[in-house]
Amino acid sequence: MRLKDKVVIVTGGGQGLGEAFAKGCAREGAKVVIVDVNEETGKKVEQEIGENAVFIRTDVSQRPQVQAMVDEAMKRFGRIDVLINNAGVHAGGKFWEETDEIWRRMFEVNVMGVVYCSQAVVPIMMKQGKGKIINVSSKAAIVGEPYHAAYSASKGAVLSLTRAMAAELAQYGIRVNALCPGTTLTPLGQSALADPELRRALESGIPLGRLGQPEDHVGSVLFLASDESDWMTGQMIVVDGGLSMI
Ligand SMILES: NC(=O)c1ccc[n+]([C@@H]2O[C@H](COP(=O)([O-])OP(=O)(O)OC[C@H]3O[C@@H](n4cnc5c(N)ncnc54)[C@H](O)[C@@H]3O)[C@@H](O)[C@H]2O)c1
Repeated sequence: MRLKDKVVIVTGGGQGLGEAFAKGCAREGAKVVIVDVNEETGKKVEQEIGENAVFIRTDVSQRPQVQAMVDEAMKRFGRIDVLINNAGVHAGGKFWEETDEIWRRMFEVNVMGVVYCSQAVVPIMMKQGKGKIINVSSKAAIVGEPYHAAYSASKGAVLSLTRAMAAELAQYGIRVNALCPGTTLTPLGQSALADPELRRALESGIPLGRLGQPEDHVGSVLFLASDESDWMTGQMIVVDGGLSMI
């Protein structure tokens, strides 16, 4: 029960990594706010977790919706201990063919979503004197990978943002760290693997010999969310089967 009575917001909690994080946090005693644009999957995860979960439909790239979600979470639970900025979108393609629309979408959701959610919870965490923000970046932010430049750049921005926020918010007791997952078998991961050239590039040379599963990342997130990581901020944990070390 490492998160007993803590209130955790998980964005993109309706499926994939976010679903695994929401369920993992609930197993450790947290009250969980599941945030997603997809009402059907968000509600399903809410029901599966039970009374300690609430689903609030929100598009994280829309600031007013994010503020309304945080207000609602406060009304329901009265505090916010952990924000897991996990919602994200992916688009593959050749660099010279990536449209303005793709670049805009990657930054609106993957970067501004993190900004809006974090800006909405920071004043609450400041008042509490403590809080944890976990930003889900990607190993695509730290190694050069072909065929998803806009996505990689947005995830690089998430890492820079993590360090800048950590430096500024440490004085208020707010810790900000990042998780960098390697390719993981979720609907988003599958879309990255749809392009055979990219699949070969991603799969070849994973030292631990396989792609990731959502559960492979839950332990790192629980560590970053719990008091066990209290003397840690501005850091990243890379969970990628060893790919980025070589
Ligand atoms: N799966 C991978 O291989 C992988 C690797 C590295 C990083 N990541 C990152 O992990 C995070 C989760 O990815 P996943 O693989 O579980 O993806 P996924 O597509 O399976 O799930 C993402 C969830 O986010 C939700 N979402 C998308 N846009 C949203 C928005 N604007 N507002 C609110 N919710 C929104 C979707 O509805 C979905 O439920 C993403 O940030 C992704 O970039 C994934």
